[in-house]
Order: sequence, then C-alpha cells, then structure tokens
Amino acid sequence: MRIDVLTLFPNMFRPVTEESILGRAAENGILDIRLTNIRDYTLDKHNKTDDYPFGGGAGMVMYAEPIFRSLEAVGAEGKRVLYMSPRGKMLDQQMIEELSREDSLVILCGHYEGVDQRALDHWNMEEVSIGDYVLTGGELPAMVLIDAVARLIPEVLGNSLAHLEESVYSGLLEYPQYTKPREFRGMEVPEILLSGHHRMIHLWQLEQSMRLTKERRPDLWQTYLDSAETLDKEEKKVLARVLSGEDE
Ligand code: ADE
Repeated sequence: MRIDVLTLFPNMFRPVTEESILGRAAENGILDIRLTNIRDYTLDKHNKTDDYPFGGGAGMVMYAEPIFRSLEAVGAEGKRVLYMSPRGKMLDQQMIEELSREDSLVILCGHYEGVDQRALDHWNMEEVSIGDYVLTGGELPAMVLIDAVARLIPEVLGNSLAHLEESVYSGLLEYPQYTKPREFRGMEVPEILLSGHHRMIHLWQLEQSMRLTKERRPDLWQTYLDSAETLDKEEKKVLARVLSGEDE
C-alpha cells in the first residue's frame, strides 16, 4: 500500500514509520510511506503557508495553493484523500478495515486553525477525527491511522491471525493475558489457563471478556447482546451468568 502524507512537519513521522513493525513493512516493500513537505510547494517568496482568516477570528488558516500543488505533485487525483481534523468522522476499527483494502491513500495534516475550505471541497476530502479532543496538528492522528491500517495489511504482522481474536473485532474487549513465570512475586496465573483444556479455557476467556465489556463499555456490550444468538449452548450459559451479575 502506498500512503502519501502531506505535512509541514515530515520529520515527526520518521521515528514512527522507520521503526518496529512499520519500518519492517517498509523494508519489505509492503508499505510505501511518502512524506511530502507542504512548504516545498509554496509560491510565496517567504515560503509562507498560512494567513489570517477572512472574517476574523483566532488562529491561522493554511493556504489552498501549496496544498493543491502538493496534492498534484503526489498524483492525488482519483485517490482517497483524508484530512485529519477534530470535526471529522470518528475513526473506528470498521473504517480502518475499509481503508486497509485500498491500494493507496493520501493524508493531509493540517496545523493552526485549519485549511482553506476550497482545498477540502475541491479534492473531496474525507475529514477524519481520532477522538473528541483537540491536538496541535494532524500529524499524530495521521500516525495513529497509518499504524492501525498498516497492521491489517496481510503480511505486516507476522502472526497473521492474532488480530482476529482481539477486542473490537469480536465486539468484546480482550480478556486478561498471562505468561511465564506461573508465580510472580506471590501472584498466581489463573489455574484454568494451565489445565490444557481448550474448551474450558475458551469459556473462561469469553466470560472475562464479557465481564470487562459489560463494565467498561456499555455501548459495545449492547451491540454484542444484539448478536448473541450465534453463541453455542455453553457460551450462552456463560452469558446468562454474566448477565445475572453472579460471581462478581
Ligand atoms: N487535529 C487536531 N485534533 C485532531 C483530532 N482529534 N483528530 C484528527 N485530527 C486532529
């Protein structure tokens, strides 16, 4: 997948895109992240990228011109162009899955108060928010999006099925995990996990996931309950126990 990032701060991306799993994906040619500095596309002799908003108000607004010229330079015509913005559609795993099926994406990172609306309109940009809080720019949100999208591209994660089990996919939060040693500073691993009894372990993990989701995320829990007919008989028993509030 090719991802073009248009930003005033390309160096912010390097530690994230060149290290660890994303770095390896780039080395293996699976992920091609290209950083474009919007400032390189100004026509202004002082390389100015923003100005005061018409109509007044606080903050600065990025010019349309360098944004248009950098989008043209990366060949953004006909591609999905995302603009990271707190007023955008909320990013969630479903959107990430959908984006991960694209061959290429273009991401515009804004700074200051925003960008000239004509750039957003002309390029038909999809505004994407990572949450109801305001950051200083779109760079960190873009990195969040890239990281979440990249790990769904086949071959990026070595252990390719791991993501299918995790929270949000199944509609439940992830159950607690343990590894060696069996006893750590007097704290034991739950006995059932050492039993080798796969079915019992599955039911225990399911119950833990259900309890966590019910307690922490009533929104996810409600959606999960609506699809509970797919559970088998024993799983339904687990659900009934969780719903009754037993053993809490
Ligand atoms: N830019 C600033 N805050 C943001 C947010 N919450 N999501 C996406 N882009 C942003």
